[in-house]
Amino acid sequence: MSRLDKIALKDFRNIEQVNLEFSSRVNVFHGENAQGKTNLLEAIYFISGLKSFRTRKSRDLIRSGAALARMKGLVTDSWGSSDIAVDLKSGGRRAMVNGRKTESITQYLRILTTVIFSPQDMALSGSEQRVKRKYLDRAVFQGDLFHLDRMRKYERVLKQRNAAIASGAISSGDNGMEPWNEELAKLSVQIRNGRSQALDGLIGHIREIHSEISGGKEKIDISIDAELGLHGVDGIMEHLEKIANNEKRRGHTLFGPHRDKVIFKINGREVSEHASQGQRRTLALSLKLALLQWVEKMEEELPAFLLDDPGSELDRKRLGYLGERLSAWKGQIFIATVGKNDVPMAPTTDIGVFNIEKGRVFKS
Ligand SMILES: Nc1ncnc2c1ncn2[C@@H]1O[C@H](COP(=O)(O)OP(=O)(O)O)[C@@H](O)[C@H]1O
Ligand SMILES: [Mg+2]
Repeated sequence: MSRLDKIALKDFRNIEQVNLEFSSRVNVFHGENAQGKTNLLEAIYFISGLKSFRTRKSRDLIRSGAALARMKGLVTDSWGSSDIAVDLKSGGRRAMVNGRKTESITQYLRILTTVIFSPQDMALSGSEQRVKRKYLDRAVFQGDLFHLDRMRKYERVLKQRNAAIASGAISSGDNGMEPWNEELAKLSVQIRNGRSQALDGLIGHIREIHSEISGGKEKIDISIDAELGLHGVDGIMEHLEKIANNEKRRGHTLFGPHRDKVIFKINGREVSEHASQGQRRTLALSLKLALLQWVEKMEEELPAFLLDDPGSELDRKRLGYLGERLSAWKGQIFIATVGKNDVPMAPTTDIGVFNIEKGRVFKS
């Protein structure tokens, strides 16, 4: 199990300064609305994953009026302890391990693994495909550290390829696009294979959890709708040649895993179009609990599970189920909630309860 023993924050969101020691099991952040509960959870998520689950802008995370947000954490796993730290400016961030700047982001990301369930997850049942691909990519990364680099490389290739198409520099008939096409094809195959394998690994967990919550009444299916399917590099390159004129007309790349669709179906009907609010909630919760199980399986260390305001999205029945799962879960848990007892869990002595008020945190 990797756990966050301590955190120190300076000028993160509305938190001017805090120093906290956490329980190795359950930590509850409670308080009124708009006090900073989610902010604290967001800081934990950020220091573990170097990104937020709410914003892509560093500026949002830095306390108004401050130039720099500072996060420090002490993480312990079965190998020992590490100090991790992030300095965040609007221009960028600096991540450090044991006082030294990290050479590899991937290495940093391995230190503290977290999975979050938040109201943002309701978007997984919507029509925005980017969110769903991201869910799968998160799972792929857990089993394959190179996935992150690969995705970044893919984005770069895509950008350059789009620029080459748009500039019209390459006239039809010559094979100026070939190097781009080959890169694109190779990466496409790798990314799609990764996603497809991750889905194969996740689907059993998702089905089981979903069926438990829905009392066995609902069956979920997930598929990836990818043009050409899992074609090899040559097949893709041929295809790219065929669509070259079309791409020129449209001015950008018309093929690739950035366009793939992830389709969720409940009892044969597509979720984004037909599912009820309750079904969407069950789906979001199942996806995240399944991801937690998957991460647990791929890692030597148990991840930490972060829950943002589960009471706002889940009804009593689903909260009851979540409570049972959390009670049985051995990893570290952080819950941001309005009421202290929103998630009914088995009593534990290893619990830290924190009250948040106007960005200040009081341990009770
Ligand atoms: N960069 C920032 N600087 C100062 N305050 C901020 C910043 N970002 C958000 N806040 C404040 O944080 C509060 C919301 O905190 P949040 O953690 O979302 O509340 P909750 O306790 O409901 O989860 C709001 O009062 C908001 O104004
Ligand atoms: Mg909140």
